[in-house]
Amino acid sequence: MKTESSQWNNNTAFLLAATGSAVGLGNIWGFPYKAGENGGGLFVLLYIFFVITLGLPVFMAEVFIGKKGKSNPVSSIESLAAKSNSSASWNIVGYGGILASLIIAGYYAVIAGFVLNYGFLTASGVEEGAAQALWTDQQSQFGDMTMWTVIFIVASCYVVANGIDAGIDKAMRFLLPMLFILVLAMVIYGAVAGDFTKGISYLFSWKSDDFSAATVQAAIGQAFFSLSIGMGTLMAFGSYMPSNQKVSKASGVVVTADTGVALLAGLAIFPLAFGLGFQPEGGSALVFETMTEAFARLGSVGQFVGPLFFFLLAVAAFSSMISILEPSVAFLTQKFSMTRMKATGIILIVCILLSLVSIAGHNVWKDLSIGALDNPFEAMKYFADDFLLLLVGTGMSIFVGWRLQKVVDSNTMGIENKAMMNLWIFILKWVSPIFLMVIWILGNLKVLFDYDLVAVILAV
Ligand code: PHE
Repeated sequence: MKTESSQWNNNTAFLLAATGSAVGLGNIWGFPYKAGENGGGLFVLLYIFFVITLGLPVFMAEVFIGKKGKSNPVSSIESLAAKSNSSASWNIVGYGGILASLIIAGYYAVIAGFVLNYGFLTASGVEEGAAQALWTDQQSQFGDMTMWTVIFIVASCYVVANGIDAGIDKAMRFLLPMLFILVLAMVIYGAVAGDFTKGISYLFSWKSDDFSAATVQAAIGQAFFSLSIGMGTLMAFGSYMPSNQKVSKASGVVVTADTGVALLAGLAIFPLAFGLGFQPEGGSALVFETMTEAFARLGSVGQFVGPLFFFLLAVAAFSSMISILEPSVAFLTQKFSMTRMKATGIILIVCILLSLVSIAGHNVWKDLSIGALDNPFEAMKYFADDFLLLLVGTGMSIFVGWRLQKVVDSNTMGIENKAMMNLWIFILKWVSPIFLMVIWILGNLKVLFDYDLVAVILAV
C-alpha cells in the first residue's frame, strides 16, 4: 500500500493552491450575502476577529497534520496517532473531513453551475425588472441545472485527474492572478458606478444591536468555510508542501489573501447594491438577483460587465472545487493503490449523484423538508458547513493541541518564538475546542430543534 504523497517542487505551489481553494464562492457569493443577512458592520468585524483568533490557529493545525503526516487526511492522522501513542480511531476526524468534502462538492457544483449559466444569460441581455423572475425560473429547470453542474464537475475532475503538478499547480498559476485582477476591476467598477460611501459605512460600522449567538455562529461558520478548514483540503495540500516550507508563514499568506478578497467582494457588491437601490438582505439570491438586475439596468454595458463578473465567480469556484475533490481522490489513490484517473472517476460519479439530490432540492424535492431544514439542498449545506466542518475543526484542534504536543516542532511550524508557540498550542487545547463546541451546540439546538438556549438562559 502506497500512503506517502508526492510533493510540489516549489514553494509557491502550496500558496497558490491553498489560496485558490480558500478564495471561492464563499468569498464572493457567500460573504456578502451573509454580511447582508446579519446587518453588515458587526458581522464583518466579528468575522475578521474570528479569522485571526480561531481561523488562523486551526488552519495551521490542519496544514501541520498534512505536512507531518505526509499523506491523505485519513492516513496522515493514522500515522501521527501511531507516532504519539494515540488511538488509531482519531482517523475518524479524517473520514469526517472526507465526508464533508463530498457533500460540499455535491452542492457547491450546483451553485457554480448557476454561475456558468448566468454568464451566458447576462451576455445575451436581461430585461430590466426581470432578474427576480429569472432566478425563480432558473431554479425550476432540473435539466438545465444538471447540464451546467455536470459540465462544472467534469472540468474540475479533469484538472484533478492530471495530478498535483500538471493539473493543480499549472491551473492555479493561470487562474489565481486572473482572479485578483478581476476582483480589483469589480471594486473599481463598484466605486465608480455605485454608492461607495454608503457601501463602506454599511460594511464597517459598529452595530451592537445585531449582537446575538446567531450572528456569532454565522461569522465563525463563514470564517471556517471561507478558509477551507475542516474537510481535509489543507491536510492534503499540506502533505505536498516541500520540506523547507514553513507552516506558519504559508498559512498567514493564505489567510490574509482570503480575507482580503472577501472584503474586496463586499466593497464591490454593496456600493453597487445601494447605488441601484437594492436591499442588502437578499439571502443567497443576493448575487444572482441583485447583480443581474444591476447589469440589466446598465443595458449593453451590462452585457459586457455581467459575464465578466460571473466569469470571475466561475474561476473562483473552479479553483475551490479542485481543492474540494483532492482529499477524497488522494485518499482513494493512496489507501487503495488506485491510479489517479480511476480514483477521480469514482469521485466524479459520487459527485454527480450527490449533486442531483441537491439540484432536486431546488425544484422536484423543493418542499421535501428534512427535519427543520427546508429541502435536501439546504440539508446538505447545513450538514456539511455547520455540522461537520465545525466538528472536524474541533477534532483537529484537540488532536494537535492534546495528542501531538511532542510531535509539533518549531522548525516545521516556522515559529521560533516560544511564547508564540505556547499561545498557538493554548488556543488549540482550550480556546477553539470550547468555543467551537459551545457554538455548535447552541446552533444545532436552534436550527434542528428550534430551541433557543441563549434566550432561555437570559430569561432565567
Ligand atoms: N473556501 C472555499 C470558498 O470560500 C470553499 C471550500 C471549503 C473549499 C472547504 C475547500 C474546502 O468558496
